[in-house]
Amino acid sequence: MFQPDLLKGKRILITGGGSGLGKAMGRRYCELGADLVICGRRQEVLDETAQTFASEFGTKVATHSLDIRDADAVATMVETIWQDGPLHGLVNNAAGNFISKTEDLSHRAVDAVLNIVLHGTCYVTLACGKKWLAAGDPATVINIVTTYAWTGSGYVVPSAMAKAGVLAMTRSLAVEWGGRGIRLNAIAPGPFPTPGAWDRLMPKSGPLADEFGASSVPLGRVGEHHELADLAVFLMADGSGYINGDVITIDGGEWLQGAGQFNFLRAMSDDDWAAMKPKKS
Ligand code: HXC
Repeated sequence: MFQPDLLKGKRILITGGGSGLGKAMGRRYCELGADLVICGRRQEVLDETAQTFASEFGTKVATHSLDIRDADAVATMVETIWQDGPLHGLVNNAAGNFISKTEDLSHRAVDAVLNIVLHGTCYVTLACGKKWLAAGDPATVINIVTTYAWTGSGYVVPSAMAKAGVLAMTRSLAVEWGGRGIRLNAIAPGPFPTPGAWDRLMPKSGPLADEFGASSVPLGRVGEHHELADLAVFLMADGSGYINGDVITIDGGEWLQGAGQFNFLRAMSDDDWAAMKPKKS
């Protein structure tokens, strides 16, 4: 899909890059020649991913273990990264989420998700943005959101609030910083199973356990990690340089299926449709 050295010379930070979708995007970036910086809370996970990528692709992969909720730790990480040279790209991928009836949430539960997703994403973006603006360096930021950033969703209300905020930040800074060479876009993935997200977000049993992918997605399947990774490459690459402040959905049509008033008719069989045809008199 891409030139093998498309991202050569780029140095990209992926938050939450040690596992899950962050790892999938990082793998593709390395494969296409980028140097990577990954951060996350578990050093051993980061080390394993860094070693895997370094041996598979021969690229440089630096690691930083921190919690992005800690603004001072984020500032220290960004200072340390810049000591080895500037970043050219940032993927705000780290997130926190779980399903719950909203009335069961404590304020600490609300804060846990908002502090990771909204505040943490802002801390990293701001720390990198200050560096880029001070040096006059161009850069690209990709924020991972979700389609319920604009539809809203029950049972993940703090996440919906936080992702809506991240999308607002994306669009706001695209305008404020766009003229200074920094473009920001968002990706809204639908169901891309990972152990981390699925353990938290999928009911373990019962009739709803296989809801994602089969009936909720028009394409009839969940997403493949490489499909998301290729979109993250496209938006990071210089060739997409006129895309700024947008959000690209990659969900097999999932959210639109929920939105269209007559889409419930997908459940009708050909026989049902035939039976409804007006009879010729
Ligand atoms: C109700 C819960 C809860 C649950 C935690 N809490 N899990 N309340 N239901 N399932 C409450 C706790 O009781 C506590 O409140 C408060 O939240 C903080 O919990 P901690 O475990 O102390 O927090 P912490 O260790 O900081 O963990 C943060 C976390 C955790 C968000 C709760 O799940 C986490 O670290 N997640 C990171 C990875 C992740 O979530 N990945 C999935 C992202 S997927 P009290 O009052 O008891 O002290 C994603 C995609 C969205 O975002 C789109 C999908 C299609």
